[in-house]
Amino acid sequence: MSIKQLKIGNITLKNNLIAAPLAGYTDVAFRRLCAECGAGLTVTEMISAKGLCYKNRQTLEMLRTSESEVVTCVQLFGSDPADFDKVLSLGVLDKFDIFDVNMGCPVNKVVKNGEGSALLNSPAKAAAIVATLARSGKPVTVKIRSGFYEGQDIAVPFAKALEDAGAALVTVHARTTAQKYGGLADYEIVGKVRDALEIPVALSGDITDEASFEEREPYADAFMIGRGALANPSIFSLLQGGEPQKKYPLIKKHLEYLNEYFDSRYAVSTVRKFFAYYLKGERGMKTFKNEINSADTLEKVNCLVDEYLRDI
Ligand SMILES: Cc1cc2nc3c(=O)[nH]c(=O)nc-3n(C[C@H](O)[C@H](O)[C@H](O)COP(=O)(O)O)c2cc1C
Repeated sequence: MSIKQLKIGNITLKNNLIAAPLAGYTDVAFRRLCAECGAGLTVTEMISAKGLCYKNRQTLEMLRTSESEVVTCVQLFGSDPADFDKVLSLGVLDKFDIFDVNMGCPVNKVVKNGEGSALLNSPAKAAAIVATLARSGKPVTVKIRSGFYEGQDIAVPFAKALEDAGAALVTVHARTTAQKYGGLADYEIVGKVRDALEIPVALSGDITDEASFEEREPYADAFMIGRGALANPSIFSLLQGGEPQKKYPLIKKHLEYLNEYFDSRYAVSTVRKFFAYYLKGERGMKTFKNEINSADTLEKVNCLVDEYLRDI
């Protein structure tokens, strides 16, 4: 398996497995779990550059990190290079080692503001955002999609423009914006980008186990894992030759971290979303699923987890 150290600019990661940014999921609690399960890098949820400019309290809270994240990476989204410049000047991102820019989000309300994957159609603006952040002296990475619509052959020239503007790594989610999260990821496109660029290229899309990882290995220098980690955070150690782990202790640890960083309301609503992933493929979970929806405190969630999930 091609697990190896990864150099992003002047930073060396212990391995080339990256926990993907996932809005609504990769908060500080889950990132800590992924880091402790062996991810070489974790990335925050996408955070609005404009929101940071206004020092919006909720947005600032998304910047929390844990000590387990040896290297920290914040993902920003926006459309105006001036917003990124202002964020840098405010100092709110000083603790982060790497800046990632979201140029892949397909959500309508983001795209219509010229943000996320809309930037695939504005390469000059995209390059200006990278150049602005690169002036910080920290490595800048960018997450893109293979194109905005089917048949739009832009991944290579777009990624090249980002490299020329100063990017230190490009991640390609091998789907078009139009595909959203369905359909097949075309990872051969990632290979083409990797061959055209000097900087490392990461592949994102559908890595859920050893077999799907091995299939994608030839196409990239690094590998980003999203939904596969939601279902099983220990995928990071598994892909490095670790023994398969039971989910119960991982879920308990996740609940402990949610309790440490968040109020009960956030913790309960967040972990409920996770159960849809954690319990995929598990049989006989009907009673648990019914009861968990009426559990309104973390204590009750913990009790139900102890009662029903000890064996998984
Ligand atoms: C619920 C959800 C939230 C996501 N949020 C983000 C995000 O904040 N930033 C981003 O760049 N990509 C985001 N993505 C895309 C993922 O990072 C990843 O590229 C995509 O899910 C494909 O990889 P996977 O098959 O390993 O999940 C999100 C995907 C999902 C399913």
